Amino acid sequence: MTVRARPQLDCWQGVIRRYAEHLPVSNVTPIITLNEGNTPLIPAQNFVEAIGGNFQLFLKYEALNPTCSFKDRGMTVAVSKARERGAEIVICASTGNTSASAAAYAARAKMKCVVLLPHGKIAQGKLAQALMYGATTIAVKGNFDEALRIVRELGESGKVEVVNSINPVRIEGQKTAAFEICDQLGDAPDFHFLPVGNAGNITAYWKGYKEYHAAEKSDTLPRMFGFQAAGAAPIVDGHPVANPHTVASAIRIGNPASWEGARNAIAESDGYINKVTDEEIIAAYRLIARTEGIFVEPACAAPLAGIANCVRDGMVPEGSLVAATMTGHGLKDPETAISAAGFSPTVVEPTREAVERVLGL
Ligand code: F0G
Repeated sequence: MTVRARPQLDCWQGVIRRYAEHLPVSNVTPIITLNEGNTPLIPAQNFVEAIGGNFQLFLKYEALNPTCSFKDRGMTVAVSKARERGAEIVICASTGNTSASAAAYAARAKMKCVVLLPHGKIAQGKLAQALMYGATTIAVKGNFDEALRIVRELGESGKVEVVNSINPVRIEGQKTAAFEICDQLGDAPDFHFLPVGNAGNITAYWKGYKEYHAAEKSDTLPRMFGFQAAGAAPIVDGHPVANPHTVASAIRIGNPASWEGARNAIAESDGYINKVTDEEIIAAYRLIARTEGIFVEPACAAPLAGIANCVRDGMVPEGSLVAATMTGHGLKDPETAISAAGFSPTVVEPTREAVERVLGL
């Protein structure tokens, strides 16, 4: 048989290839990619109607990245740079999504991956990912902030490459989501709503919007609106939280590494940061699934609840163009979904009549 030439793939090949000129890579950087990015921007007018708003809402559905969260954008850059430097082991602390992403990209780069997770506090789907991708998984009897402190200390030893967002190249990769939104909308939105945990993503989006604007690839800048969970709202409350708690386990963080970055994004963009309760998070989590068919993990419901509160308080002018990032997939956290939806199946005999009786037909 003839040996076929390697095809020139006519498809999206990840954020590094698409946005190389804006990223800290060169032609000697090995590109470790799973073709992340290019996620859909989905209009969500049923949700807007349900909360009584009169504006346009677009959801950046980051759940459709290869490991089902936005972390893949930063991880492709972090792992590619680690590989370029000849590192052999990558390490991170995580509430679940960073660890899933680091484990996947490390596997692809033939590198070892170590993940430190708050024991018993991460969603099952995320744990399954880290295990399947072959990461060494360590459960720390403590919270994310404590796990990150250990990772920072290990990073200083020089033996491992830290791929948390304290590594600035993670922020560089994540900013590509703002580029895509400008490319998809034709300009920046008026408002951008995000969940805030370790605060890397709001920092990254603001950097991305500013850079695109400076490069004259967009005409306007959005106002950045961040939302924390009420039991884990250090930036809103103005002090670290020793024992953060919330149903949105992804953002159960008491001392964010990019606190300063979040504060700058909000100050410079004439933005806003506030908190939402777990009840508000669960209500928005259910509402977006039921009105739009969009299943997200609970952390994504923080900005959705935030939008509802801002509409109630008259903070979103009629006709505005609003974007919100849906950072992770609902399937990552099936336990919270089943408990929020109320699982009460009606068990019937295997007959048509039995089903008709249940339906009242
Ligand atoms: N949404 C999801 C689904 C997340 O996993 C995270 C953070 C955030 C929002 C908050 O983003 O930290 O940049 O402010 N997850 C990290 C992790 C902490 O370990 O997966 P942030």
